Amino acid sequence: MTAILGISAYYHDSAAALVVDGKIVAAAQEERFTRVKHDHAFPSNAIAYCLSEAGLSPGDLDYVGFYDKPFLKFERILETYLAFAPRGFRSFLKAMPLWMRQKLHLPREIRRELEGQYTRRIVFTEHHESHAASAFFPSPFDEAAILTLDGVGEWATASFGSGRDNRIELSHELHFPHSLGLLYSAFTYFCGFRVNSGEYKLMGLAPYGEPRYVEEILDKLLDLKEDGSFRLDLSYFNYCQGLTMTSRKFDRLFGGPPRTPETPLTQRAMDLAASIQKVTEEIVLRTVRHLHERTGMKNLCLAGGVALNCVGNGRILREGPFEKIWIQPAAGDAGGALGTALFIWYQLLGNERRTETPDAQRGTLLGPSFSSDEIRPFLDSTGSVYRLIDDEAELDREIVDLIEDEKVVGLFQGRMEFGPRALGCRSIIGDARSRRMQSVMNLKIKFRESFRPFAPIVLRERASEFFDLDEEVDSPYMLLVASVAQGQANAGRRRRRPAASTSSGWCAPRSRPSPTSTARRGSKPWTPCATGGFTG
Ligand SMILES: [Fe+2]
Repeated sequence: MTAILGISAYYHDSAAALVVDGKIVAAAQEERFTRVKHDHAFPSNAIAYCLSEAGLSPGDLDYVGFYDKPFLKFERILETYLAFAPRGFRSFLKAMPLWMRQKLHLPREIRRELEGQYTRRIVFTEHHESHAASAFFPSPFDEAAILTLDGVGEWATASFGSGRDNRIELSHELHFPHSLGLLYSAFTYFCGFRVNSGEYKLMGLAPYGEPRYVEEILDKLLDLKEDGSFRLDLSYFNYCQGLTMTSRKFDRLFGGPPRTPETPLTQRAMDLAASIQKVTEEIVLRTVRHLHERTGMKNLCLAGGVALNCVGNGRILREGPFEKIWIQPAAGDAGGALGTALFIWYQLLGNERRTETPDAQRGTLLGPSFSSDEIRPFLDSTGSVYRLIDDEAELDREIVDLIEDEKVVGLFQGRMEFGPRALGCRSIIGDARSRRMQSVMNLKIKFRESFRPFAPIVLRERASEFFDLDEEVDSPYMLLVASVAQGQANAGRRRRRPAASTSSGWCAPRSRPSPTSTARRGSKPWTPCATGGFTG
């Protein structure tokens, strides 16, 4: 037996994943145990859970993998600081204590957290390698093109390449500070939402606005190439040197300072949301077309935080050149824990890979579960009022009756989902036919903004009846948005593609220009990768 523990930690969304003989046995995010949203602390609770699920102790592990390379990341932070010094001293000072205390001593920290019981090798995979591994290895494809898009890892902010059987190879990267994830986060910040957590709110807000700022974004903020690579004009941003995402120049371009969080939503915020969403989709579509031209492959795997943009994913599926796509449900940094563990099993150890149908992610139901015998004493101890329904058919009828009555039902069953989306095991459900249900749920149940959307649950056999989805397309992970089938006025409309320059910017992973040199327009953003790699 070979047991591999994957860990992601210290940035946001810390998590652990356990792979035993190539099977994903358990995976969970630390926030689900500590109740600290996006918890970035070392995932002690998630690790303890994963080990208990397999009946293992830290000493039984054969490998431990960490989802990025801290020294490379530290190099990026130092170089960025030096490039902008003395500006940025405050953000530098803020970041340093955690680096000095923990991040630069990761092997020591990991062994200490594993109670000194683990003495074998610790493998560090690159951040985008971890994302790519999490996208390809659980997918149902023998071979596929791979695209990863996020804020930033060590230096890479996006990468692409391909996977075949038990190997992945990333051939090109885009480097910090030019980042689609950070660009989207800058608008998230500017519209008054929290960076690294409010991005999906911005996506949810987009349909309420008009994309009236698209030209400004494409003219002023970035130099977008035909192949999807781009360079940002850093004078509009502040994330390299400051504690905010955007600069005063950004304020001037969009008519005033950022929206104060929790204040009423403005038309400007809605229009900005619609605009950056459209630009994001354009960048992703161009990249995907370029990747298809380069690889000639039929299938595409996606991961990285930007791959949680299910509206963009829907357009890749409808308008992109790939026949099939598979997206890692834990596409954010939590999924890196799974990626690094799978990378060790397949790529480092060279184990054979057999694809599974529909995939090897097991419905992403990889977290803890609780039996009625465990739940009952808890309910008793809190004095909760409850009724036990043993018969499953009777329970189903009860739920249907409640929903028909416009009641809201909390579903808690089986293993917890791995990834940010509730997929029916930790979900709040209501009647989609009710016009008031969305705002009832948002305002009364979850105390949140009324514009935030919910996802429909539809039997797969009937999905194409209600949605503009091909019959053979499954969407089990809430990662694709499709138009409603009825009244398809907008469904097939092709959007006009903004003008772009034709040179390429994809570059090799190790040919890293300094943060300031890449800030100038005209140099190449995408770089070819030198080698894939890992260190022990
Ligand atoms: Fe990431």
